[in-house]
Amino acid sequence: MLTVMVAAGSLILVASDAAPDRIPSFVTWSAENIAAASSGDAFRGSLLAKRCDHCHGAEGFSPVASTPNLAGMNMLSIWKQLEDFRSHKRRSRPMEPIAESLTPRDVADVVSYYAELPVFPDPQDNRVFPGMQPEAGRAAVAARLVTFGDGERGIPPCQSCHGPVAYRVGVPSLMAQNGDYVLNQLEMFASRSRFNDINLPMRTIAALLSEDERRALAEYYGAGLGLQPAGSSGSK
Ligand code: HEC
Ligand code: HEC
Repeated sequence: MLTVMVAAGSLILVASDAAPDRIPSFVTWSAENIAAASSGDAFRGSLLAKRCDHCHGAEGFSPVASTPNLAGMNMLSIWKQLEDFRSHKRRSRPMEPIAESLTPRDVADVVSYYAELPVFPDPQDNRVFPGMQPEAGRAAVAARLVTFGDGERGIPPCQSCHGPVAYRVGVPSLMAQNGDYVLNQLEMFASRSRFNDINLPMRTIAALLSEDERRALAEYYGAGLGLQPAGSSGSK
């Protein structure tokens, strides 16, 4: 619904009901929430994870490139995602009912389990990570954005938030993430169909990137190049 207001002789249209993305998440990083998210029992989590294996892989490496790997993920970041699925602040047909079926204790236990899984799993499993190496020119485009960003367009380096240089509370690791999943999320942030990022860093950054850059970044992370020391991957 639109309300028409006349101010200083000009017509202003004001949306009367707040857009759903005005409140990105009900999670705040209070000491209480940080303690709740960090207090899980990984053993109990490993039993609960039997319900997740089918899609996220027995070792936290998914066999499908559009489903995220959860192995070694920062505990707080996946705790927040499960809370957001539960409150429908992050939309996903498979994940909303699954997250709703978990108790707060289940969520803490399962995130503690996935956070402990090694990033280099047993080669016998059927993971798709790491994917194909990108062509050198595209890898260089991505490496530049990961390491330096683009000051002219106001894009900060990806690694300033996603590591390895610095981690912020609740920021997901991209080091061992599937390329198709990374691309889907960048596109969803750019179109604002994913809107659960507090203070909008990802909706802003993803929309500033070109389609080609989003693809190059997804290929870069999906090939495992994010695991290499900063800046070394573009020169290969
Ligand atoms: C039917 C398949 C399926 C099952 C079962 C499943 N997931 Fe998921 N999960 C997905 C998909 C697909 C996504 C990505 C959603 C999207 O595209 O935004 C996802 C996303 C997630 C994320 C967000 C990860 C990130 O990097 O942001 C977490 C955390 C998660 N799932 C945890 C779980 C847990 C814990 C269980 C078991 C209790 C589980 N999932 C069971 C399919 C599944
Ligand atoms: C200012 C900090 C910041 C910068 C810089 C940043 N990100 Fe993010 N990113 C975040 C946060 C915070 C989230 C988690 C949002 C949420 O709570 O769901 C996120 C989430 C993501 C996700 C979804 C991950 C998942 O597991 O669901 C992808 C993909 C992503 N960022 C890619 C990038 C890329 C590529 C760049 C560089 C072009 C970048 N980000 C730069 C803060 C940042």
